[in-house]
Amino acid sequence: MPQMHIHSDIPALTAAVAQRWLTLAEQAIAQRGRFTVALSGGRTPRVLYALLASPAWRERMPWSQTELYLGDERCVAADHPDSNARMVHETLLDQLTQPPLFFPMVKHPELPAQDAAHYAQLLRERLTEDEVYAPPCFDLVLLGMGADGHFASLFPGTPALEDRETLVLPVWVDALNAWRISLGRRVIAAARTRIVLVTGEDKRATLLEVMHNPLSSKPIARLQHQAELEWHIDQAASFHSPSQPD
Ligand code: 6PG
Repeated sequence: MPQMHIHSDIPALTAAVAQRWLTLAEQAIAQRGRFTVALSGGRTPRVLYALLASPAWRERMPWSQTELYLGDERCVAADHPDSNARMVHETLLDQLTQPPLFFPMVKHPELPAQDAAHYAQLLRERLTEDEVYAPPCFDLVLLGMGADGHFASLFPGTPALEDRETLVLPVWVDALNAWRISLGRRVIAAARTRIVLVTGEDKRATLLEVMHNPLSSKPIARLQHQAELEWHIDQAASFHSPSQPD
């Protein structure tokens, strides 16, 4: 059953998720010697990554035993303003004296299918610990939600959203007139924990539908049946009062 955490504002949400990150990291490292995370992109997680890199938090984080990946990426150059890899560097990696391993998704923006295949191979090599046919398993997948209900780059109406097998997919997004690369549903579902960050009033209507309409066609509604799913939302995106005093 998904857990819903409603926070009074973005700073409270960010601090709570940073604490969850640390707890999950300590558990993963104790059990398996490392902590593997697929980062979400876009606007919402910027404040979280900046907090993790802040003096108050960065010394507490086990960066040397942490491996950072991307959950999705825009097919643009690494220095492009829309690049998620660039955003992760600016907000987190470039702020750390000894940054964690980071595996960008896009090396050839003009070859999305090739980059997707290469990333899938990377995940198979680095994250398939159990029996051979198990999908790569992240300790944590961070996700955001678009106002249209997409998660990662699994947008409404795309074949990628219906694909339950492919590990990493090239995604043509008509609405954006652009290529993306995304983890597939199989990898997101195989993660030990999924945390969805949603802030802002523009997401409220979609969130209300996803939470209350079991027949919702919004892409992210497909995650609702998964265990180990944590929603962390702020008051602006919520239709309820905060779940507990922050
Ligand atoms: C991306 C993200 C995407 C994002 C949602 C929400 O690359 O854009 O991975 O899935 O989480 O689009 O984006 P915002 O946080 O900017 O609202």
